[in-house]
This record gives sequence, structure tokens and C-alpha cells, in this order.
Amino acid sequence: MMSFNDWLAKSTDEVNDVIMGFLPAEEGYQKTVLSAMNYSVRAGGKRLRPLFMREIYRMFGGMGREVEPFMAAIEMIHTFSLIHDDLPCMDNDEYRRGMPTTWKAYGYDMAVLAGDALVVYAFETAAKAFAMAESDACRAAVARCMGLLAEKTGIYGMIGGQTADVELTGRKLDEAQLDFIYRLKTGALLEAPMMIGAILAGADEEQVKTVEKMAACVGRAFQIQDDILDITSSQEVLGKPVLSDEKNHKTTYVSLYGMEQARRDVAGLSGEAVGMLKSLPGNHETVEGLIDMLITREK
Ligand code: IPE
Ligand code: IPE
Ligand code: MG
Ligand code: MG
Ligand code: MG
Repeated sequence: MMSFNDWLAKSTDEVNDVIMGFLPAEEGYQKTVLSAMNYSVRAGGKRLRPLFMREIYRMFGGMGREVEPFMAAIEMIHTFSLIHDDLPCMDNDEYRRGMPTTWKAYGYDMAVLAGDALVVYAFETAAKAFAMAESDACRAAVARCMGLLAEKTGIYGMIGGQTADVELTGRKLDEAQLDFIYRLKTGALLEAPMMIGAILAGADEEQVKTVEKMAACVGRAFQIQDDILDITSSQEVLGKPVLSDEKNHKTTYVSLYGMEQARRDVAGLSGEAVGMLKSLPGNHETVEGLIDMLITREK
């Protein structure tokens, strides 16, 4: 039997192939923005969001190809969020996914445009799922998923969270503010792919709600672990600078609750997520493996 790590390496390669297949050709007078878009997507990353999407889709019995444009779309949206997050007017970071950040490599102007272009191209890509859907029910699911993707990306999702994160920088946050920021800036972009996997595979409403709650736990644990690694890891391992939060005077889960509780809560939240996963049908093995990885991950 294949170990989880071998499975993960193989699956990440497969997910990468899907993503690469949807990247735009670098040609025409707008070539610069096209190569800036592709630069940051190709730089790599864990591909956790499309992996979760694909595995939840399969867990609920999905067997079609209409999930693939959505896998590429979520990674484009996530990458857009990182490109803008690194800008000098945001976190002002110069290194991402083991490479100079997009604004360092292409300039401030092209990084803004590459982010804009990626988020719009993500929806152009997701729309390709319509042609792959094989039934009216599936086409209806595709339409719903496009709306959901927009909601979780925009003002009621990631962008809303980033707004509060940026605006409240340098201030001591209370619990409710920190919760809001983590639920939106990070949680929303994990809820979207997991829910999309479930909806496309035909999960019922109750199950989709459970998946959303499970993903929210995963998102919170994921951001807490990101805050921990910002302190305990290294640029070589992470592929992005450490101590970025301190540099930017951010209140984080660790600065608010301490390292020990942060670690405990990552484990607690992951356990909670696995508990919810166990109430769902299908083979849970790979999704559980991905959730467990959140506790042990070093990058
Ligand atoms: C980083 O996300 C940004 C956060 C939401 C914490 P990832 O840690 O998934 O980044 P990549 O995709 O692997 O580079
Ligand atoms: C990331 O928060 C949230 C995003 C929506 C990009 P961070 O600012 O902590 O992410 P990293 O540490 O730069 O990846
Ligand atoms: Mg940030
Ligand atoms: Mg940042
Ligand atoms: Mg961080």
C-alpha cells in the first residue's frame, strides 16, 4: 500500500498538471501580465485547496471532469490573494514560494494587474465546467459553485478578511476581531473548494453544511499554524520570509494566546474537523490525511 506521503506527492503532481493545463498562453501585447500571472502560479505551493476539492469530490462519489476547471480556478484565486498580500502597501514581503514575489520580479504595477487578471481569469476558467457537465443537475451545480466561489473570494470572504487585517494592523485585536479576520481571510478560501467538491459530486444540503463547518475549522487551524511557522520556521523551509507578522506589527493568534495554546488549538481544531468528516459518507482516508498534515506541516 502507498504511504500518505507518496500519495501526496503523486496527487500534487496530478493537481499541478490540471492547473498548468488551464494557464493562459504568454503572447500578445499583454504578454507581460500573462507571464506575471503564470510566474506566481508556476512557482508552486502546496496546492492544498485543489487537493481538498478533488478528494472531497471523490469522497462523495464524483467521477466527472467538471471539477478540474474549479481546481485550477481556486488555485488562481489563492495565488491572486498571495500576490496582493505581498505588495509593499500590504505585507511588504519580497519572497514567496521560494522565489522573489511577483512585485519584486515584475514591478508594483504588473503585480497589481497580475492579481486582478488572475481573479478574473479564474472565473473565465471555472465557466469552462459548463461544457464538461453531463446533466442539467450538474450544470445547475456548476452555476451554484461559481456564485459560491465569488462569495468566498469577495467582500464576504477573503477580501473582507484582508480588509480588516490591513485596517487593524498595529492595534491589539480582541477575540471577535481576530476570529472574523481568520474566518474570512483564510477560512473562506478553504470553505469554497471543499464545498465545491461536495456540491459538484451531488452532496445534499445537510452534508454541504457539514463540509462548510469542517472547512471553517480547518481554515482556523491552518492560519494559526501559519502564525506559528512565521515565528518558528525559516525562509529556506517556508519559501517565504519569517517574522513578517512582527515586522508588520500584526496581532496574531500566537501574540494573543501564546505559542502553547496556539499549538494546542491547531490540534484541537483539526480533531474537531476530523470528527465532522467521520459523520460524512464515503472513504475518508485521504481527506483525513490532508487535515492531519495541518498539525504536522512545517511549511
Ligand atoms: C498561505 O497559504 C496563505 C495563508 C492563507 C496562510 P498556503 O500556505 O497554502 O500557501 P502555498 O499555496 O502553499 O504557497
Ligand atoms: C494570508 O495571511 C491571508 C491571505 C488571504 C493571503 P498572511 O499574510 O499571514 O499570509 P502569508 O503568511 O503572507 O502567506
Ligand atoms: Mg497578510
Ligand atoms: Mg502575508
Ligand atoms: Mg502569515
